[in-house]
Amino acid sequence: MTMQKLKENKVLYFFWSLFSYFFRKITIYKRIFSNLYFCLIYFRSFRVVLLNDLTIGLERLYQSKVYFPHPVGIVIGKGVKIGNNCTIYQNVTIGAKTGIGDKYPTLGNNITVYANTCIIGDVTIGDNAIIGACSLVLQDIPANVIAVGNPAKVIAYV
Ligand SMILES: CC(C)(COP(=O)(O)OP(=O)(O)OC[C@H]1O[C@@H](n2cnc3c(N)ncnc32)[C@H](O)[C@@H]1OP(=O)(O)O)[C@@H](O)C(=O)NCCC(=O)NCCS
Repeated sequence: MTMQKLKENKVLYFFWSLFSYFFRKITIYKRIFSNLYFCLIYFRSFRVVLLNDLTIGLERLYQSKVYFPHPVGIVIGKGVKIGNNCTIYQNVTIGAKTGIGDKYPTLGNNITVYANTCIIGDVTIGDNAIIGACSLVLQDIPANVIAVGNPAKVIAYV
């Protein structure tokens, strides 16, 4: 049945509206409760959900054992792939370059991203890399390096 036909049938449309309203509410509550659960159980700080925009989802971050030493101002997009044991400092943005439809960054394992860094677009960061404070990552960073600056360049190997 199309939405047009549903709208013509007032009774059916009423029940459809009621159902979709409660379905939306359940989805929102489920997200809120799951966020609170992971905040309490893993991150042990409500700041993680209150002061950041982690669209990637706390469950995903919990699975990867991501560590936030100072969880403020961090934005991680929905499509970001993140490996295990990464450390992300304050005011870091990891996301798409322009908007919807863009590709998101991929982070390997054991990566440290220091304060105020932006990692944007279709970039890959290799395992054990360290990204220095206030860097802008626009291109791939190999594994086992320290990269800094705008745009980020390799300055040393770890
Ligand atoms: C990336 C980092 C770990 C590198 O430390 P390091 O290995 O000791 O590097 P050095 O201090 O020897 O610097 C090497 C070169 O890189 C430059 N450099 C270091 N960090 C830089 C940064 N974040 N942005 C731009 N250039 C940087 C230095 O100026 C130096 O350049 P030079 O050789 O021309 O003088 C460190 O600089 C850094 O960014 N730490 C993050 C600190 C932070 O965010 N702390 C949060 C606390 S809450």
